[in-house]
Amino acid sequence: MRHHFATGAIAACALVFVVTVGHTEDLASIEILGRNLVNQNCAVCHLKPQLGAKTYGPALNRETLGGNVEAIRDFVSIGNQRMPGFRYRFSVAQIDAIAVYLKSVPATLAATPASAVTR
Ligand code: HEC
Repeated sequence: MRHHFATGAIAACALVFVVTVGHTEDLASIEILGRNLVNQNCAVCHLKPQLGAKTYGPALNRETLGGNVEAIRDFVSIGNQRMPGFRYRFSVAQIDAIAVYLKSVPATLAATPASAVTR
């Protein structure tokens, strides 16, 4: 009995938590979906296997394509001669999640133009 009471109390708290955070909670789960998709499908070309290693594609972060979510969605959907498009692989919602996630990735030093570093 005691055990059931505790479970109920925990469930009630979780419910209150979800209702109170509402929007923020949605955004976070979209970012998590985007991060998982990127880790599983883009890492081979875009993420460094180790520090200092070169990647085939450019670093992806909030500065990618000028931080333009529209442009990121289009590029990921269509691709170009060096990168495959993902429009048949992913749903619109999945591509949105990727674009939202990239906006949350801070620009790293590696992504900084050389001219900005030497000054
Ligand atoms: C086969 C390797 C490969 C895979 C897999 C790949 N990319 Fe790319 N990606 C590239 C290359 C190479 C470029 C640079 C294209 C160019 O400049 O012509 C690029 C460019 C991009 C750009 C434009 C960046 C810029 O600054 O111009 C975005 C955005 C991007 N990729 C996102 C993704 C996402 C998201 C995924 C996974 C869903 C992905 N890519 C998977 C190779 C890849």
